[in-house]
Amino acid sequence: MTDKVGYRRVGDIAVLRIANPPVNALGQAVRAGLLERLEQAEGEEGLRAVLLVGDGRVFIAGADIKEFGKTPLEPHLPDLCNRIEASPLLVVVSLHGVSLGGGLEVALAAHYRVAHPQARVGLPEVHLGLIPGAGGTQRLPRLTGVDAAIEAITSGRHIAAPEALKMGIIDAVEEGNPEEVGLAFTRRLLAVEAPRRPVSDMPAPVPVDWEQAEAAALKRARGQIAPGAAVRAIRASVEQTFPDGLRTERRIFRELMETEQRQGMIHTFFSQRATSALPELDGVSARPLRRVGVVGGGTMGAGIATALLLADLPVVVIEQTGDAAEAAVARIAAALDGAVARGKLAQQMRDRMLDGMLTAATDMAALAGADLVIEAVFEDMDVKRRVFAALDTVCGPEAILTTNTSYLDVGEIAAATRRPDRVIGLHFFSPAHVMKLLEIVVPEGAAPDVVATGFALGKQLGKVCVRAGVCEGFIGNRVLTAYRTAADHLVLDGATPFEVDAAMTGFGFPMGPFAMADLAGLDIGWAMRKRRAATRDPRERVGRYADRLCEAGHFGQKTGTGFYVYAKGQRSGVPNEEVLDLIAAERRARGISPRLFTASDIQRRILAAMVNEGARIVEEGIARRPLDVDMVMVFGYGFPRYWGGPMKWADLQGPGDVLADILRLAKEDDYFWQPAALLEEIASRSGTFAALNA
Ligand code: CAA
Repeated sequence: MTDKVGYRRVGDIAVLRIANPPVNALGQAVRAGLLERLEQAEGEEGLRAVLLVGDGRVFIAGADIKEFGKTPLEPHLPDLCNRIEASPLLVVVSLHGVSLGGGLEVALAAHYRVAHPQARVGLPEVHLGLIPGAGGTQRLPRLTGVDAAIEAITSGRHIAAPEALKMGIIDAVEEGNPEEVGLAFTRRLLAVEAPRRPVSDMPAPVPVDWEQAEAAALKRARGQIAPGAAVRAIRASVEQTFPDGLRTERRIFRELMETEQRQGMIHTFFSQRATSALPELDGVSARPLRRVGVVGGGTMGAGIATALLLADLPVVVIEQTGDAAEAAVARIAAALDGAVARGKLAQQMRDRMLDGMLTAATDMAALAGADLVIEAVFEDMDVKRRVFAALDTVCGPEAILTTNTSYLDVGEIAAATRRPDRVIGLHFFSPAHVMKLLEIVVPEGAAPDVVATGFALGKQLGKVCVRAGVCEGFIGNRVLTAYRTAADHLVLDGATPFEVDAAMTGFGFPMGPFAMADLAGLDIGWAMRKRRAATRDPRERVGRYADRLCEAGHFGQKTGTGFYVYAKGQRSGVPNEEVLDLIAAERRARGISPRLFTASDIQRRILAAMVNEGARIVEEGIARRPLDVDMVMVFGYGFPRYWGGPMKWADLQGPGDVLADILRLAKEDDYFWQPAALLEEIASRSGTFAALNA
């Protein structure tokens, strides 16, 4: 049992070394080992202090998340923390790497804390739908004050050691090997006979305006419940005794453990890490990337170039004219300046990126030395094929050619080259240096090392990479189309666009579909509808009210009017009441009597459409697993993380219930609401989508 916690006596100090790779999570064996080793130290003659250190790259990354949802086993973490704090010996921790969640709570239970300058600490439980459950909400405010504790716990952010020192979370920052630093620090404390210093003995912090604090946390949380609960737990640190405060924290923690949000968040945590674990890439090496080319320096191309520079990759950007190349460089400079302004990039690095690492050219020949090229030109098959034929002649035979297309057939683009096996899609989301998602679109016959290189590049860029097969719209835009179609039908049948938007922001999306359409430009959808009109199935229901807006010259935000009216320079608008007349006229012409829809009706209908399309995408092999659909929607389309994605949402509702909704809707429109075979199959055996993730 104690093999997870090493024990070594150094003079009058016992060093307890936590060793549970990869991140020293506090599983049951670690908790039991810590308790046993602490008791061993306390039983030793002549010992005065205990030093806790972590083996490997971190101190402790927190409770073992894999144990959540199972029966908790003794010793429980809150009891262990109290036991550490109550030890008659002087307890010191030396932190390096990260100390998160339960890991920081163990550190807060110690009497003194020293940390490496690069160490980071934090209580990120809200990202798992929880609050700290082992005293974090009671001890942290005693050290930092309430405001700082609320900020740290409701944001869950990682706090760098120097800032943690200023906040009072740690006592010292020292460079060096964690054990040596810890021993020296402990010896100094013993030399001056520093007293034991339990945080629970410190005075209760000063109160704040609790209603306002909770309201602010809820507003930032966009539907997520844990941050508001965290404020309530912190309040207990002020208004209750320490033991009562701990009990309040524990009660809230347990309540949150039972929520769907906790399940959704933990699904997101593990799925985010699983998207790039593909058996087909086992043992396949990625190719080294020394220089990357980007063709097209518009919004997308410039965003991609910025992302590459920020990941320390030299970039060559190709534009058609000198002016366009200059404009591309200006866009990249503006994006880097934004990173400097947000404190994410040092001015000196920004200058080095623009002066030494970025080249802009108008001749494709400048791409001769590139190991990988990303094409981000106009979305048109003929244009793309011409670009790829040209790239094929200028780039070295091993170079990987990729396209940022969001809809087109990557296989057809690849066929314009003599190296179709070295062509894949890298579908970035705008702004490309900010958005976390990268869809890696793999056409038939792509070489494994090319796919592995796509994933390695995505990882270097800090993206969540999801493999998608070739089809129109890949994973994300296909689900989005189903989402928009369901929203359009709701409006035809009686909901207003504003009700639909409010229902979806109420569900947790940052924006509803109609506000989103305004932002993207209504002319885009209009052009697409016109293109598809000739081949459209007569059974397909398509609203025309948005066309009427476009015909009147209203394209959304860029013209100041769309579904909403925008004051000059404003990004959020007020409902455009005239849209309601256009919709009413269309309903009359189609003979539709409008019905009332509640927010829940709207959410269920739209979600059912997304689930159905997601199931089809898995069924067709376009996504390998339901979790791939989930992560595309969470990281590329603003699907609330706490629902875990549409497929996880379906599991939480019960796939059978989602199917029942679809079958009911099919009675009115059996063209759009054809149930996916996979959904029917899962529902028929009362299974889950999650079972297919294994
Ligand atoms: N429990 C179980 N497994 C964990 C874990 C945890 N707390 N943290 C990380 N892991 C696993 C990951 O799933 C991953 O496993 P695979 O290799 O099988 O995919 C492995 O450890 C390495 O993790 P990453 O790939 O994420 O490595 P990284 O270097 O990019 O990041 C990290 C390391 C910063 C620790 C990151 O993993 C992280 O943020 N972990 C979660 C930290 C957290 O939320 N802690 C709070 C837990 S809740 C709690 O403690 C509640 C309480 O109060 C009682």
